[in-house]
Amino acid sequence: MKISFSKLSFPNTGVAVIAVTQENVNSETLAKFIAKSPAKFKGKFGHIVPASPPQEHDLDLILLVGLGKKTEISTARMRKVGANMMKCLNANKIAEASIILDEGKNASLGNSTIAAHLAYGASLRAYTFNKYITDKKKKKKISIKELNFRLEESDIAASIYQGLDIIKEGVFYARDLVSEPANILSTENYANRCEDLAALGLKVQVLGEKEMRKLGMGSLLSVGLGSAMESKLVVLEWNGAEDKKEKPLAFIGKGVVFDTGGISLKPPPNMGDMKSDMGGSAAVVGLMKVLATRNAKVNVVGVIGLVENMPSGTAQRPGDIVTSMSGQTIEVLNTDAEGRLVLADALWYTKEKFNPKLMVNLATLTGAIVVSLADIYAGLFSNDDALANNLIEAGCDTGEKLWRFPLVDEYDRMLDSPVADMQNIGNGRGAGSITAAQFLKRFVGNAKWAHLDIAGVAMIKGENDLSPKGATGFGVRLLNSFVKSNFEK
Ligand code: BES
Ligand code: MN
Ligand code: ZN
Repeated sequence: MKISFSKLSFPNTGVAVIAVTQENVNSETLAKFIAKSPAKFKGKFGHIVPASPPQEHDLDLILLVGLGKKTEISTARMRKVGANMMKCLNANKIAEASIILDEGKNASLGNSTIAAHLAYGASLRAYTFNKYITDKKKKKKISIKELNFRLEESDIAASIYQGLDIIKEGVFYARDLVSEPANILSTENYANRCEDLAALGLKVQVLGEKEMRKLGMGSLLSVGLGSAMESKLVVLEWNGAEDKKEKPLAFIGKGVVFDTGGISLKPPPNMGDMKSDMGGSAAVVGLMKVLATRNAKVNVVGVIGLVENMPSGTAQRPGDIVTSMSGQTIEVLNTDAEGRLVLADALWYTKEKFNPKLMVNLATLTGAIVVSLADIYAGLFSNDDALANNLIEAGCDTGEKLWRFPLVDEYDRMLDSPVADMQNIGNGRGAGSITAAQFLKRFVGNAKWAHLDIAGVAMIKGENDLSPKGATGFGVRLLNSFVKSNFEK
């Protein structure tokens, strides 16, 4: 789907969309464009109503789209309207449409920002993953070839959109990774894709099992023991800050390309969804792509642990005791609590190697977070209030909502093991997401750290505002906003 911007003018043919605020429903501009404003259309936020074209025009269709009250206009609301508009045009199999915007004056945002975010919302929503559907008729396609936004400030709108399109590409990159099945997106294929990103100026390094064994990553490596795929740790560095020696920000992702549960095998229903168990890593990779493409003036490192969790004669058993890179020993009571085993070594490695300003990890870590928050909020856990608040704020900006959970000693003690330094699951009942976070906290030392449990939001059963059902790319926009508003300038 192509997005373009041009000067305000009314199209003579095709499909016209007129975006109007509540205050301007009866304006002269609108009267110029349509024969008669339908009585039921009040310009309310998100409302879409067809109207009849003026006589001298040969238009196929006019749609009126409500932007809501001028004072309530926000980028988030404009993205939502843009997405809904795209869905409506697409449902009507429309190939091209011109969107007329003459109504933003005196609104809380300028026309150019309004147009750019309408376009951004439309693009984010227009995602499909249909590469494996060979029947052309069954291939879900976006009918729209081009959306042309028409407004006086078209040049400014185009330049704002250019920046947003870079972020969208990062989100789509993450969605593609999550959508790929594990027979295609093996650990090796994933690592290769990361290496391809070096073309953007990222430094990419891939550690294999031999290197990780040398580093003592017995925790991460234990997860891949049952798999024919080699476990990998991929390190992506972006050194965009003026001071190349400046401590980096670090983002760490769980990249379990498939999670069967291992010997603690998961039940068959929905096990196929576990191809998305690398959603945390996908968000990190998508973010790194965005930062490199837009040449962000920051130093950032992304570290992702790529493993496959399989049952086999070489798989680890419940009761096994492994030694992590930190030296701490772990009794693996449930092989399905594998994400934390991967992150334990990835976090410790990142802290030791990069001494980062802060560490944020993302992981589809627990089913318990889905019970708590469904696919609406992601869980947030942190040892630093300022970091937690900044992440929450970034999420408010992008619409990727975070809800903070507590971390306290009483939960930490639930991980004490009689035979090792800790066990990989809590010994009581309940608080499964918190005990998982407490486990991670044992591997971050004194670093400022936050953990996002995105198990409920990385892949969704129904669509949301800006994403069709399936992979959402959750985290890319949030982290980009977090980096930009706190560490650039
Ligand atoms: N990858 C799963 C968590 C998950 C569940 C992600 C649903 C997405 C949707 C994770 O590895 C897991 O299996 N967690 C276990 C932990 C338990 C054994 C302590 C869980 O949540 O059941
Ligand atoms: Mn698991
Ligand atoms: Zn998992």
